[in-house]
Amino acid sequence: MAAMLAAGVAAAEDGALGEAIYRAQCANCHGGQAEGGEGGDYPRLAGQSAEYLRVQLDHFRELKRQNKPMLPIFEAGALQPAELEAVTAYLAALPLPAQEAVGVPQAVAGDLELGFELYEKDCQLCHGPDARGIEDKGSPQLIAQHPRYLAKQIADFRDGARWHEFAEKLFGEAYEDELDAVLAYILHLNHQPPAGGG
Ligand code: HEC
Ligand code: HEC
Repeated sequence: MAAMLAAGVAAAEDGALGEAIYRAQCANCHGGQAEGGEGGDYPRLAGQSAEYLRVQLDHFRELKRQNKPMLPIFEAGALQPAELEAVTAYLAALPLPAQEAVGVPQAVAGDLELGFELYEKDCQLCHGPDARGIEDKGSPQLIAQHPRYLAKQIADFRDGARWHEFAEKLFGEAYEDELDAVLAYILHLNHQPPAGGG
């Protein structure tokens, strides 16, 4: 019982630490609710898997993923492992932002049926049937994300600024016309309940 209480107190303290770090160092860019902003210059972080977020922070710090705007947070006294843990746990526990916060103003015009076919064939295995990500595979949620941000990531995968498995095959030149269809389909999934009711 005492151990359970102690664990509860520790979790609450982590939550407060995570929120304090987020407010001081991240909210300016990523938004008060971690909903992202500036039309997708800054990605939504709320509700994303903690493990995925932590891996991305490591990639930025190690310059495996190129992103100048975030480098100062690592220079000005890099976040300690426990602080990283706290901020990513805080973000993962936040609710997904409302559709209006991430999608409607920039809905993508694309062929939904083609998007569904392509998504099912090329993306579903790793990102899940409802695009909510698969923790074991380290793959992020793609729903509830700014389409312009997603499109920029795909451009980065293409030109090598960011790593993605099978990038050439998945996002190579031949795929260009089909990109809007996949993004439109992912945006459409924002409106659907999770697969399997969970
Ligand atoms: C000066 C603005 C700025 C600040 C401050 C900032 N970020 Fe970011 N962050 C960005 C930008 C821009 C991107 C998108 C990079 C890209 O296009 O690849 C990003 C991307 C990310 C990603 C990757 C998301 C994904 O879906 O892959 C994570 C995780 C992240 N930031 C976490 C944080 C955390 C945690 C903090 C605070 C400790 C923080 N950021 C502070 C600008 C900022
Ligand atoms: C073999 C597994 C696999 C397949 C297939 C796959 N992905 Fe991914 N995807 C991943 C993983 C893992 C990551 C995270 C990479 C990292 O750690 O930076 C990712 C990241 C992404 C991101 C970055 C999201 C963010 O928040 O920054 C986008 C966009 C994306 N994938 C789109 C797609 C699309 C569209 C398809 C189908 C055309 C696809 N992926 C197919 C595994 C996969």
